[in-house]
Amino acid sequence: MAKKKVTIPYLQKKKEEGKKITMLTAYDYPISQMVNEAEIDIILVGDSLAMVFQGLTSTVPVTVDETIYHCKAVMRGNTTSHVVGDMPFLSYQTSVRDAIYNAGRIMKEGGVDSVKLEGGERMADMVYGITRAGIPVMGHIGLTPQSASQLGGFRVQGKDIESAKQLIKDAIALEEAGAFALILEAVPSKLAKIVTEKVKIPTIGIGAGPYCDGQVLVTHDMLGVFDKFRPKFVKVYADIRKQIIDALVKYREEVENVGFPTDEYSYEVSEETEKMFEEIAKEF
Ligand code: KIV
Repeated sequence: MAKKKVTIPYLQKKKEEGKKITMLTAYDYPISQMVNEAEIDIILVGDSLAMVFQGLTSTVPVTVDETIYHCKAVMRGNTTSHVVGDMPFLSYQTSVRDAIYNAGRIMKEGGVDSVKLEGGERMADMVYGITRAGIPVMGHIGLTPQSASQLGGFRVQGKDIESAKQLIKDAIALEEAGAFALILEAVPSKLAKIVTEKVKIPTIGIGAGPYCDGQVLVTHDMLGVFDKFRPKFVKVYADIRKQIIDALVKYREEVENVGFPTDEYSYEVSEETEKMFEEIAKEF
């Protein structure tokens, strides 16, 4: 039986039934198709594309137009996963109006099912405004890469009393504002467990241990494509980078040694047509 489209009530039901939610990133048509075929519940068109796709050193420069471009490509490859478009830095922090406007563009032009934004209590008004406009919002707390500079780098969050309490407050504030799920990034497992028990909506961890309701990774990290750095929480499931480089080197060697293309990969004609070509050649 064909898999049905993943909906927000389905994700909520998974939490209630203790079934884990799966989520991965995609920025283009082929990866989206493969993630969909693997029956992953949620595809995130993450602003991580800045680092693993565009080769930048932070997620800050990503624009709304770039996000929409990638969302469109992902939507063409997807049939059943729930697709979340990541709201870029400064596309929602400036005002509730900007937040609704840009979330609306990402949903309307990008075709995605929901949007994600970073930040807790301080972003509750934006989450409330966007959800009231009819756009589902996924929250993202803990390590929020768009504010890595303010947080002092890409580091584990919630390790002291104040920040642990703030994380719980953030989760509750986002739930009350109407978020349908929460990403918990780089927080201690036991704190992620407490947050997961305190909120009714699903929590999806990345570097947040085994007690969250689901798990997300950046696909380019877990496939071993991105090699600049590897956070502790990334499990590498395949060495695709090596496989691609091996294939490219083999191609270069075969072309250089005339091992490719052979007749098998060439267009042959009859002897008569070959003779005709030779006659034509004499004219030039
Ligand atoms: O942009 C992204 O890929 C993300 C994940 C790390 C959750 O926000």
